[in-house]
This record gives sequence, C-alpha cells and structure tokens, in this order.
Amino acid sequence: MKKIIAMALVLVMALGLFAACGEDKETKKTTTAATTEATTEATTEATAEATEGTGEAAAFTTVNPGKLTMATNAYFPPYEYYEGETIIGIDAEIAAAIAEKLGLELEIVDMQFDSIISSVNAGSADMGLAGMTVTPERQEEVDFSISYASGVQSIIVKEGSPITTVDDLYAEGAAYKVGVQLGTTGDIYSTDDFGEELVTQYTNGNEAVAALLGGDVDCVIIDNEPAKAFVEANEGLVILETSYADEDYAACLAKGNTALLEAIDNAIMELTADGTIDAIIAKYIK
Ligand code: ARG
Repeated sequence: MKKIIAMALVLVMALGLFAACGEDKETKKTTTAATTEATTEATTEATAEATEGTGEAAAFTTVNPGKLTMATNAYFPPYEYYEGETIIGIDAEIAAAIAEKLGLELEIVDMQFDSIISSVNAGSADMGLAGMTVTPERQEEVDFSISYASGVQSIIVKEGSPITTVDDLYAEGAAYKVGVQLGTTGDIYSTDDFGEELVTQYTNGNEAVAALLGGDVDCVIIDNEPAKAFVEANEGLVILETSYADEDYAACLAKGNTALLEAIDNAIMELTADGTIDAIIAKYIK
C-alpha cells in the first residue's frame, strides 16, 4: 500500500512539473484528482485494519493500540469503586462490554474526577466513564456518547437534621453548609444556587460524608446511588425523599473523535438492545 501511495505522489509531482510548463488551472485540477485517489486508498486500508476483529464499519484508533483506555474516579459506588486492588462497578463492567465489542482490551485509569475531561482531551485516555452527567458546559469541551444510564442528585443529612426537604435549603435566611465532590454537578449546581461561601468541595464522596458526620457541613449533595451506598456504610445518615436534580450519564470523548464515538455509540446501542446494560445495572442496584 505504501508503494501505491508513493507512486501516486510521484505521479502528482510529475503531473505538477509537467503542467507547470503549461496552464496553471490545469495543474490544480490534475493534482487534486491524483491526491484524492491516493487518500481514498489510504482511508480504505485504515478502515480494513480497524475493522479486523470488531465487525464494525468505522475506522478508529485508540491512545494505546489494542486497548480502550478509560479515565474514571473510582470512589463512586456502585459505578466505580475498589474491591481490593481491582476497580469494579457498573461503569467498569459496561466499559469491559464495550471494549469486547470493539475488539479491545479495557484499561482503567483512576484519577481525580475533575481531571477526567482534560485527560481525554490531552489524549491520555480514550474515554471518560465515571457516572458523568451530560451538561451543556461540558459539551463545549468534549463529545458525549449516547446516554447509558440516568442519575439523580440527592441530599444526604444526619438523622434528625432540620433539613427535611430540598426546599429547606432555599428558605429565607437559611445558610446551610453543603458538602460536594469537587467538579461534579452537585458542586456546580449548589455553588450556583447557594454561593461559594456555603459550599465545600471534597476530593471524593467519602470525604464529603466524613465531613457531614463530623459536623463540618449540614448536608452532602451527590448522585443518588453513591448516596445510598454511603448511607448504608455509615450509621445515622438519611437521604431526603426530594431530589435536587435529574441527569443523564454518558461517556465523554475528545471533541471530533467521531470514529471512536460512533463505535462506542453502536456498542452501547447493542448492549442496551440485548439487555446487557440492564443486567449489569440490576446486578449492582437492587
Ligand atoms: N454525575 C456527577 C457529575 O457528572 C458526579 C459524577 C462523579 N463520578 C465519579 N466517578 N466520581 O458531575
């Protein structure tokens, strides 16, 4: 194939030289035609390579050949969390199923939640999968896959707290201290709603919950399923019945990485249609 491209290039150059003696217009046309041919050939080869073992039509490349590198923050049960040294959970299993469909091996990289988007954009990970909510602001920085799950921002308080509904946080004269995980929608929305002075950002949900137990904050705003896991793991906490926000979770990819995005979208569609994603979610959320 390299030979064909080289030959095409020689041809382009020869035509260019030849035409340079004649009319200018002619040159451009000929050059364009030859270049187009060479490009088409190259693209076809790339497609064939990427298709091997996947059965999908799109040509994609990954940051580590043969691997699907997933950026996450693994302190977010039941989506991603450690069991010993291994990261397990809904996102980890869905990612493994996507990787299998793409003929790739899954590799999970754990990092701060607010580093996921930059690592995807820097080309150190193929996708972020982290119970990440699709928001218009994030859509300006990354592309999102189709959604694979929905989420709810919930409020955790100590038993007997004066905060009994979400409205209490907005009551006249209320100045409740809110704990959140840095860079999450819980952080972004509550900072908007209640002001920076009242919101404390922790690196992960565990720390926010510890602060609530220690009396440093009056409530924690976090996604509902992690909230349930934290409440289950700690005495004396409850989740308010009323929720704070409804959201959709999706994988994020570097902007313009359309071939991989399409492949991931197709995989999610297939895994939704055949019940795989439902089964994974049901395994972790009773
Ligand atoms: N859904 C929230 C957001 O997108 C929180 C996600 C936190 N995920 C995590 N793996 N720590 O902002």
